[in-house]
Amino acid sequence: MTSSWILLSFASLLAIGELLVPSEARAFFVFGDSLVDNGNNNYLATTARADSPPYGIDYPTHRPTGRFSNGLNIPDIISEHLGEESTLPYLSPELQGERLLVGANFASAGIGILNDTGYQFINIIRINRQLEYYQQYQERVSSLIGPEQTQRLVNDALVLITLGGNDFVNNYYLVPFSARSREFALPDYVQYVISEYKKILARLYDLGARHVLVTGTGPLGCVPAELALRSRNGNCDPELQRAADLFNPQLVQILNELNSNIGSDVFVAANAYKMNLDFITSPQTYGFVTSKIACCGQGPYNGIGLCTPASNLCPNRDIYAFWDPFHPTERANRIIVSQFMTGSTDYMNPMNLSTILAMGSRI
Ligand SMILES: *[C@@H]1O[C@H](CO)[C@@H](O)[C@H](O)[C@H]1NC(C)=O
Ligand SMILES: *[C@@H]1O[C@H](CO)[C@@H](O)[C@H](O)[C@H]1NC(C)=O
Repeated sequence: MTSSWILLSFASLLAIGELLVPSEARAFFVFGDSLVDNGNNNYLATTARADSPPYGIDYPTHRPTGRFSNGLNIPDIISEHLGEESTLPYLSPELQGERLLVGANFASAGIGILNDTGYQFINIIRINRQLEYYQQYQERVSSLIGPEQTQRLVNDALVLITLGGNDFVNNYYLVPFSARSREFALPDYVQYVISEYKKILARLYDLGARHVLVTGTGPLGCVPAELALRSRNGNCDPELQRAADLFNPQLVQILNELNSNIGSDVFVAANAYKMNLDFITSPQTYGFVTSKIACCGQGPYNGIGLCTPASNLCPNRDIYAFWDPFHPTERANRIIVSQFMTGSTDYMNPMNLSTILAMGSRI
């Protein structure tokens, strides 16, 4: 009886110890759209969802999870590099107690920088709401480990934010003569979107983020959906490419401005455009048979409509760059994250993730 009491109290001491002292591992927070959503939209009444087969076919459980991938997505693979479990979607009821200390994923498929982006998806977590949830998260953690430890956890954490693609695909170019395209010429629209993004990133900093990876957009005109919809000859659509070419350099510029105002390299630009273009231009070099045809879909390039149980499905997802009309396969995501980790300044500016991690927990 005594010994089991000792054993029990030892176990609970350990549990309390773990709660009071956040482990050496860093927390990880994720904000953004479907490229990084790991299941929040499952809890929402929205049409932007990935909760039916064959999504998740190569996930460890072989079941759909809400990730827009055949298996793992970019945040999952970053978590692997951090030596941690994947973060849970913020809306998951399992995100309680100690599991909060690993971080959280606030991303929601369909959203953009602008509030009107993705309006057709109805109930999604727009970026301002994601930041409100981040604040709410911090209050919850604070009641577990106290305000100082929470501040430390938040300041030391790695943050990933992926936004912008939908402001073109699901807004400006969603339909011909969209409201935004009648309101703005493309260069003016990009400038407006970028100025809104700068406010969002400044708010993220105000909420305690100190190590923030910011991905630009990929080559928007080259995804199977755009090849099917807008390209006649299988080349990347020049109009969406023009949007990405205007957006990405201006994003790097505002990150530089924010960093110089802060006086520290809080924001790191991840050149998703170049990372994706590498395997889009020479798929064979990366072991893909094609970068034009999606594994799951229908119509030309399997680029029309959604990936559903009725779609064409390729037997080997590892030899396709694109899983569905918009999203890379797990294998392509692994190539992207390896550039996050060790890429040169052409890919990660001013530093890569292995440099951030090697700097230890504090700048
Ligand atoms: C977007 O909506 C939020 C409230 O949810 C508001 O604070 C913000 O100003 C809006 N942004 C724009 C550009 O209208
Ligand atoms: C990126 O990572 C590699 C390998 O860890 C390192 O040698 C290189 O200097 C890093 N580059 C930058 C710009 O941080």
